[in-house]
Amino acid sequence: MFSEKMEAAINSQINAELYSSYLYAAMGMYFEAIDMSGAGKWMDAQVQEELMHAGKFMSYVNERGGRVILDTIEKPPVEWSSCLAAFEAALEHEKKVSALINELVTMARDEQDHMTDNFLQWFIAEQVEEEASVGEVTRKLRLVGTSGGGLFMMDRELSARVFTPPAKEE
Ligand code: FEO
Repeated sequence: MFSEKMEAAINSQINAELYSSYLYAAMGMYFEAIDMSGAGKWMDAQVQEELMHAGKFMSYVNERGGRVILDTIEKPPVEWSSCLAAFEAALEHEKKVSALINELVTMARDEQDHMTDNFLQWFIAEQVEEEASVGEVTRKLRLVGTSGGGLFMMDRELSARVFTPPAKEE
């Protein structure tokens, strides 16, 4: 059964995913402001990923006969001290989201809600990818340091990212 507690927890996760998209949009605008539009494009793809995550949770609540309640989205920061600082903040944020997904799985298991448990497994795998991709950029930026040439090359590399929507059956 899909409990009211589970429904409320997923609604709260929808808000967390929407906040993630808002946070990454804010980081993207910061990158545009410091003339790192490649990093801005990378974040634009990340915004779309997060909206897709929120959409998957919304569809699931509807499928289980629940009601999606959209809550206020917190204001994200406006500035970071560097490109690296922004990506480090993104990595910390993804770790928090992973912890939230883990808590949802624990709740689903406690309630013997196997359908929700099964649904959440996609997000468990997704969070491994999310942490890995943000972590990889963060490590490269640490290597580059404050080198103008290195940052220029990194920005060009980041500009290549495009959002690929998941296959329909997922
Ligand atoms: Fe929706 Fe980046 O986790």
